[in-house]
Amino acid sequence: MNSDLAFPIMLSGIRPGEEAEVIGLIENAGLTVQDLNTEKLVHFIVARVGNAIVGTVGLEPVGDGALLRSLTVLEGYRNRTVATRLVEAIEKYARAHGVGAVYLLTLTAAGFFTKQGFHLIDRHAVPAAMQATQEFRTLCPDEAQCLSKNL
Ligand SMILES: CC(C)(COP(=O)(O)OP(=O)(O)OC[C@H]1O[C@@H](n2cnc3c(N)ncnc32)[C@H](O)[C@@H]1OP(=O)(O)O)[C@@H](O)C(=O)NCCC(=O)NCCS
Repeated sequence: MNSDLAFPIMLSGIRPGEEAEVIGLIENAGLTVQDLNTEKLVHFIVARVGNAIVGTVGLEPVGDGALLRSLTVLEGYRNRTVATRLVEAIEKYARAHGVGAVYLLTLTAAGFFTKQGFHLIDRHAVPAAMQATQEFRTLCPDEAQCLSKNL
């Protein structure tokens, strides 16, 4: 067992200088990073154990909704509700910023998100501005599932 797991997991924003580490974590999890920049990372939350970043989640505001993206947890820290806590935190952040609904695309984790109260929706039911994001333009419609949640 990893002894780090005895340490509490803390959630916070990204600190200056951590951008490359966060992008690397997301890329290693197989998720899109091409469009990530410092401006977008402002709306990200990370999970920390000590000095290590072990999880990420981001919000990309689009109109009066937002795209939930870049949810990752390092392999050694999975199945310990880190992702659940990250999603709860980003939803709270979204509500505080007046976001009415969040949308996401996923290739592998639809079952995780339905447990968090998201519903599968037809990708074409998503607002046009959301469909124009890099995430929607990159992920293949035949493979990715689209989910949403009203906040
Ligand atoms: C998906 C991911 C973020 C889950 O992280 P995690 O911290 O292990 O998730 P949690 O421990 O909070 O899981 C909560 C519940 O969801 C389930 N779950 C986790 N990942 C799942 C998945 N991919 N599909 C279905 N259910 C999943 C867990 O078994 C757990 O169920 P339980 O409450 O019945 O025990 C992590 O596996 C990951 O980083 N995957 C690679 C990147 C990825 O696919 N991200 C999502 C794309 S947006």
